[in-house]
Amino acid sequence: MRSLYLNGAFVPEDEAKISVFDRGFMFADAIYEVTAVLHGKLVDFDLHLARLARSLAEMALVLPLDNAQLLAIHRELIERNALHEGLVYLQVSRGTEDRNFLYPPAGSPPTVVLYTQAKVVLESPLAKRGMNIIGLPDLRWGRSDIKTTQLLYACMAKEQAKAQGADDAWLVKDGFVTEGTSNNAFIITHDGGVVTRELSNALLPGITRGALIALVKEHDLRLEERAYTLEEAQNAAEAFITSSTSFVYPVVTIDGHAVGDGKPGVLTQRLRQLYIDHALAVIA
Ligand code: PDD
Repeated sequence: MRSLYLNGAFVPEDEAKISVFDRGFMFADAIYEVTAVLHGKLVDFDLHLARLARSLAEMALVLPLDNAQLLAIHRELIERNALHEGLVYLQVSRGTEDRNFLYPPAGSPPTVVLYTQAKVVLESPLAKRGMNIIGLPDLRWGRSDIKTTQLLYACMAKEQAKAQGADDAWLVKDGFVTEGTSNNAFIITHDGGVVTRELSNALLPGITRGALIALVKEHDLRLEERAYTLEEAQNAAEAFITSSTSFVYPVVTIDGHAVGDGKPGVLTQRLRQLYIDHALAVIA
């Protein structure tokens, strides 16, 4: 049985208890982070800490743990659970109080939970097969840049993709792709441009997205941070997604329309390898 971290203590998962009145449960008044683990070490943890700090600030949440403590808890969990490959999940909610829309008084303790999940990351079959994607309207709230646990629409969209025999959905707002349900969306143009939507309130500033952009620039590939339509994506040379739990997965069809030759793209596969090399170089 896994050990998890709850409010200052490591406990077996079946002994960890959170109140019914936790605001994470009642209002999705909570934020989270997911950091990949390779060879028992964390990938780009500093960048996850920086995004965590941003989410906390945007939500006016105060976490009574500093970065060194957060790192120590992550490492201890990895060790206790003998995690070799997978992820560490961290969630901070605004704590527990009788149901009330207004925030609890300043200084009320948040609920802090961390756990590990084993997952095949490096040799994932989807990396070889590629993903089939459908397009869906982006019906999420207006602050998708904050990593909140308010993920109902992502669940609904993934269910809809599954019902149509697809792997996932890309979300479209005002005619342009924002991102995937739980990943950032990229296309590659026929003249080799790597395109992804510029950051705004409409999408999450993915850590993998940021690392991939740095790699694109480092390897003298052309980056275009701009909006694009689902139709442009369908007619692109290649398409792919990025996230901490998938790294880079090729997209091979969009709404049944083959992207390129309908197989994982050559540049996409190169970028996946570059990302893996990066991840293995920075794990700590
Ligand atoms: N999801 N966009 C959304 C909406 C996401 O939920 C995620 C991550 C990303 C990619 O971000 P990153 O590269 O930092 O993982 C983009 C995580 C993995 C999840 O919810 O499990």
